[in-house]
Amino acid sequence: MSVITAERQDDVLVIISNNPPVNALGAAVRQGLKAEIEEALGDDAVKAVVIRCEGRTFFAGADITEFGKPPVEPGLGEVIDLIEASDKPVVAAIHGTALGGGCEVALGCHYRVAVPSAKIGLPEVKLGLIPGAAGTQRLPRLVGAEAALPMVVGGDPVPAKHAEAIGLVDKIVGEDSLAADAIAFAREQIGKPVPRSSEGTANEDGVKNPAIFDEFRAKNGRKLRGFEAPEAGIQAVKAAGEMSFADGVAKERELFMKLMTGTQSAAMRHYFFAERAANKIEGIDKDIPLIPINKVGVIGAGTMGGGISMNFLSAGIPVTILEMEQEALDRGTGTIRKNYERTAKRGRMTEDQVEAAMGLLTPTLDYADLADCDLVIEAVFENMDVKKQVFGKLDEVVKQGAILASNTSYLNVDEIAAATSRPEYVLGLHFFSPANIMKLLEVVRGEKTADDVLATAMALSKKIRKIAVVAGVCDGFIGNRMLSPRQQQANALIMEGAKYWEVDEVLLDFGFPMGPFQMSDLAGLDIGWHRDPSRVESIRDALCALDRRGQKTGAGFYDYDEARNRTPSDEVQTIISEFAEKQGVVQRDISREEIKERLLYPMVNEGALILEEGMAQRASDIDVVWINGYGWPVYTGGPMFWADTIGLKTIADGLEKHADRLGPDFPFSQLLKDKAEKGERFN
Ligand code: 3HC
Ligand code: NAI
Repeated sequence: MSVITAERQDDVLVIISNNPPVNALGAAVRQGLKAEIEEALGDDAVKAVVIRCEGRTFFAGADITEFGKPPVEPGLGEVIDLIEASDKPVVAAIHGTALGGGCEVALGCHYRVAVPSAKIGLPEVKLGLIPGAAGTQRLPRLVGAEAALPMVVGGDPVPAKHAEAIGLVDKIVGEDSLAADAIAFAREQIGKPVPRSSEGTANEDGVKNPAIFDEFRAKNGRKLRGFEAPEAGIQAVKAAGEMSFADGVAKERELFMKLMTGTQSAAMRHYFFAERAANKIEGIDKDIPLIPINKVGVIGAGTMGGGISMNFLSAGIPVTILEMEQEALDRGTGTIRKNYERTAKRGRMTEDQVEAAMGLLTPTLDYADLADCDLVIEAVFENMDVKKQVFGKLDEVVKQGAILASNTSYLNVDEIAAATSRPEYVLGLHFFSPANIMKLLEVVRGEKTADDVLATAMALSKKIRKIAVVAGVCDGFIGNRMLSPRQQQANALIMEGAKYWEVDEVLLDFGFPMGPFQMSDLAGLDIGWHRDPSRVESIRDALCALDRRGQKTGAGFYDYDEARNRTPSDEVQTIISEFAEKQGVVQRDISREEIKERLLYPMVNEGALILEEGMAQRASDIDVVWINGYGWPVYTGGPMFWADTIGLKTIADGLEKHADRLGPDFPFSQLLKDKAEKGERFN
């Protein structure tokens, strides 16, 4: 059946798209739309047109899989121009999400009606692009530059109600009567002159007050740092006020093509598909029956246990949280409440929602209360004996068929599973701190973890709005395992003479939100410190001995002022130099290039080892982990995609070049060497 069909409702022609799953505007859809619009224009009996979509959503955008391939006629812009040029009213009937090219189709229509649950947006910026079918020119003319800027540059879709308020939607119609209501609306417009977005004048706000563009830049500078597309978006919206429609469209095209052929967009499109691929598990039937999870237990109400619990409470799943002592339990539940109340204060939750979430939480000191949980997540101290004890206990009390998970950061999940009589129900669920906020979840597949247990964990991750990646059992799984060589090199570099702030700066310039020494200061340098100021065996010991224990004491590697602004410290640099001398290390000048190579290339190597050992399913999963868990800049596509971009030979040669510094025990990945030699990529 054709993806585009049309049916006559008396004098209204209803054009219907049915291109699952998201009605992407691929070539067949564009061809069909064009043909049906031409049909409507040529048929005197047709007085108005409605465009609507079957399935879960209105057009969710251009077909991203077509990007980078030779264009197929007609282009989307041409189809939209044809729609807008019609003198017969054309109405977009929107449900689900009208995104990107879908929003642009709606803008080309003369009217837009939407159901209350619909969302409309221009998310191209999240693919490193700007809208490419005149969206940056029509939207400001329709709603004004000020309202258009956050949509074009931020990329988040707006709900129907907001769209109506800014003039993007003409009417909100019944959730269950969209088709009929849209036809009725269209009929009301017959005979009236059609309004065209391209002829709108709302964009004059940006001409009268051009300061809005710089204000927008200033307000969002930090968030947009390093990204190319947002600035292009600002320029395009500005052009909508300064140029004719035709010139503005040409300007948009120029900016769009530059982005489309650049590396950032390639990287971000890679990431889009990587995120979706990560949820798929090789070798497991995607229709495998899942274990229903209606009640969750959490052990340990510390930093992680509290945050983990919040994910489920927010998703409406009851949680029973267990501690060893009443005091710790009260502290933990108190923190959960405080976090929710802070969110409410910022207007992102109502008081009722806070109470509803808290009402789903049952604190306990008694393991028996966990008996009927469908999933129990352990988040106690990082100590194998303690974990084994906890899992032994869980094995005794929790019902058969329930999933038992550990939030361990490094420990062997198979060993933990062996403390139970049901290792097939055990796996790792490694959340990241703060667990209620960080998107990443490493799902650690034990040697014996059953397929349905793993599949259930992956499905559940979506429900609690996490991005889950499957990892194998190895030290640090995917993320922390790759962090470790970076940290080793950072420490080695400052011993060899690199300034610690330069090491941080190199990573900041690369696009990370923070460098390793800033991160240490934030976490506290005294984690794991022996607390004996006279024992100085490392730079960290030396700093702790001087009470430079990180941000919390006002000084660590850096000095901090009241507002937590950091300045590099000469005192610390002297400590490092003296320590190096004592260790017999001769310090030298180290270039930023060397710093970058030594921090990042060993990470790629570790990623290759992870792949080689089958600890990650695919290279793109590693990219998903580092982008969501550690702030690797998404516009480089993640460590493995970035390595592909600069060439694996560059990485392999770089590692050879630094071989003496990396030491004889450096585990050079054979996979990396082979791929580099053959000119292959990871992704
Ligand atoms: N093109 C091609 N495939 C797409 C697609 C698109 N625009 N949008 C989604 N898909 C695919 C996904 O890859 C996924 O495939 P899979 O099942 O094989 O993994 C499938 O559709 C379902 O997608 P999701 O799993 O993401 O489904 P959800 O229901 O969770 O989300 C959605 C639906 C909100 C529409 C989400 O898919 C989404 O955000 N899509 C991208 C929207 C977008 O970026 N549009 C702009 C495109 S660029 C553009 O339009 C340029 C224009 O200006 C010229
Ligand atoms: P934490 O020290 O803040 O909390 C641990 C809590 O567990 C404490 O409240 C303690 O009273 C309780 N506890 C200890 N033994 C218990 C037992 N037998 N029964 C019931 N409760 C018990 O520690 P945190 O940071 O929450 O870490 C917990 C786990 O999460 C560790 O395995 C850690 O490696 C892991 N993790 C920590 C991350 C972090 O950034 N803090 C990130 C990801 C994982």
